[in-house]
Amino acid sequence: MTPPDENQQTPPVPGPPETATAAPVATGSSEPPAGATTTAQADAPAGPVEPPQPSLELRRALAAVRTEVGKAVVGQDSAVTSLLIALLCSGHVLLEGVPGVAKTLLVRTLAASLDLDFKRVQFTPDLMPGDVTGSLVYDARSAEFSFRPGPVFTNLLLADEINRTPPKTQASLLESMEERQVSVDGQPRPLPEPFLVIATQNPVEHEGTYPLPEAQLDRFLLKVLLPLPERDAEVEVLARHAGGFDPRDLGAAGVRAVGDPGVLAAARAEVRQVEVSQEVLGYAVDVCRATRQSPSLQLGVSPRGATALLSTARAWAWLSGRMYVTPDDVKALAHPTLRHRVQLRPEAELEGVTAESVLSTVLAAVPVPR
Ligand SMILES: Nc1ncnc2c1ncn2[C@@H]1O[C@H](COP(=O)(O)OP(=O)(O)O)[C@@H](O)[C@H]1O
Ligand SMILES: [Mg+2]
Repeated sequence: MTPPDENQQTPPVPGPPETATAAPVATGSSEPPAGATTTAQADAPAGPVEPPQPSLELRRALAAVRTEVGKAVVGQDSAVTSLLIALLCSGHVLLEGVPGVAKTLLVRTLAASLDLDFKRVQFTPDLMPGDVTGSLVYDARSAEFSFRPGPVFTNLLLADEINRTPPKTQASLLESMEERQVSVDGQPRPLPEPFLVIATQNPVEHEGTYPLPEAQLDRFLLKVLLPLPERDAEVEVLARHAGGFDPRDLGAAGVRAVGDPGVLAAARAEVRQVEVSQEVLGYAVDVCRATRQSPSLQLGVSPRGATALLSTARAWAWLSGRMYVTPDDVKALAHPTLRHRVQLRPEAELEGVTAESVLSTVLAAVPVPR
């Protein structure tokens, strides 16, 4: 499975992501490295005991999702991996890419292949909080107010161009994301399960936009970059169109539901069982702490960011066929989990330093437990 790191505009990160080895679905997992403790080993009375493994059936279901998405979307494999990780962690995603790189198509196809309800909201300057969350409407016949749920009542919400809407509407969405419920007229209404927001941003457009404040950015589990396709992939996109592919008709493209919310919930329960040794916990913390010491940053990763890194590394370990996290899992997830949680100093930015380059430097410097 393609590691979740696009590794764009960065010097290659030492070791993984690109070389991170995901065990093929059919073959199960390898032995844990020294220092990785598993429940089975700890509880075992004597003799070698097979370490616990992710359920093959669940991993096959998630691998099948990837195949379905591939029927519509050409390439963008690491973005697909990242979205699967977000689903396994119940975390929201910032999806960054210029218009026309299949952000919408990717999220729609993902929803279809997991039989999830999908809604898309275009965040415009005049969008009101109630347009997202829903509002009370007056029914003249019954002479009562009733709640009309907004598009946020869904499984996968594509919040398109989130920074084109003013802070008030952004804040109401972010509140729903955090609380997983909507309160109208003093009454809390729970959102469906799963509930995931995928908010898109255009990296080049800044005119007339409202950038999300740092505190809000921290609420997104991952920031995923959708790069422009390679030439071969772009030729394939055109070939599909020439062959009659219609992005509005996913069924005709052969996209089927190969999983459902139940499969996701079962996979998520397994991810919660993935073991993390004290050494690996320490490593994740050291990486995050090192960002706070970086001379190029005015804001490093928060403890919330550190817990996010732990979650995503666990999900990636599980997807890779292991029930324990390695330092390489932490490395593989560092860029997508942390890139939006650090803030460059203006001087550093002028010198061409980027969040990616700072993270790469930190990963190269922090000692890896063996
Ligand atoms: N990687 C890709 N795979 C398949 N189709 C693509 C890809 N990139 C662009 N396209 C085509 O471009 C169209 C625009 O995609 P869309 O999802 O609307 O982009 P965005 O939401 O990023 O603006 C798609 O419907 C599809 O026809
Ligand atoms: Mg779009």
